[in-house]
Amino acid sequence: MSEFIIPKDGLKPAPEVPQPNIFPMEWRVETPKLADIYERAKREGFNPADVPWGSLSPESWSDDEKVAIMYWWALLSNFDSSGPAVFSRAVIRAWELHEEDPVRKCFFSITRDEVNHEECCQRVMERLWPGSPQNFEPKSELQAVALNNIGWLYHNGGRYWTGYKTAIERYPLAIIFTSFMMGEVASSTLFHGMSHAASHPVFRDVFSKIGRDEARHLQICISLLERQWPGLTDEHRAFVTKQLRAGFVFLSMILWEPPNQFWDLPDYFLHNHRILLRTARNAGLGILSYDEQADNWRVAIARVRKLVERWKIEFPAIPELNIKGVDVGDITAEDIVPVF
Ligand SMILES: [Fe+2]
Ligand SMILES: [Fe+2]
Repeated sequence: MSEFIIPKDGLKPAPEVPQPNIFPMEWRVETPKLADIYERAKREGFNPADVPWGSLSPESWSDDEKVAIMYWWALLSNFDSSGPAVFSRAVIRAWELHEEDPVRKCFFSITRDEVNHEECCQRVMERLWPGSPQNFEPKSELQAVALNNIGWLYHNGGRYWTGYKTAIERYPLAIIFTSFMMGEVASSTLFHGMSHAASHPVFRDVFSKIGRDEARHLQICISLLERQWPGLTDEHRAFVTKQLRAGFVFLSMILWEPPNQFWDLPDYFLHNHRILLRTARNAGLGILSYDEQADNWRVAIARVRKLVERWKIEFPAIPELNIKGVDVGDITAEDIVPVF
């Protein structure tokens, strides 16, 4: 006689789990390339606590320079520090949609990396200007305009977050990741350029470490899209075209200068922003010039264009950089999905 209880009319199957749900659990592998990237992420990742922040000596910069450098990191945090929350949502979504195991793990690794990038923003700011980005009493005009501009940056970051939360529920992950791709291309280009241009070894080191992570994020996006794009509908393709323009609009704030769309800013913002960036550039942070940034953007965009055109996705017009393409109309807060 069996130890088990088996009813005469057989075992009763458990009810099906209503979807979307993270259950039932399984560990399917469809794209071994993504599994390899995840293994690499575990080995290549860095610990921000091991960076010798102590050698960033606050005495070697004037107050204006320290605040200007802090301002740039606060600007970066508008993008990089939203990464943990943005990718956490993508991780949860990937579980609910029962994406294959390497996809879920790769998204998790991006989240892990973005927490590290956020920690770098935090540590530089704490070291150079305690109380920054927003919790300090300005003692000069430069400090007052930096504080005010940071407030406006975060106001726009908040508008982006609201739009993103809706989009992540509404569109397939492949579509969402096309928007991320523009961010990953942009950020890997940005950090690569700055790792060469910065004069302080700590900044050079941090930029090259972050740049290596971003290059891996880009590979994740590309592998994912190679897998999923053949099944895209025309509606999805049109959405992607618009997202590429949205990526340009959103990311230009850190890659170059923002165009006159989406960004809700007072008239004086850009003027003060340029002076703060000039001060940080002269202090050796490694910020490229306006023309160098424009050239970098063009190169990065050409890479994205080549990738998406393989999948018969039209490219948007970017007249700001003399790039021809289709007109996608206005870009509003609801359209912005891209992240670093
Ligand atoms: Fe990042
Ligand atoms: Fe990234």
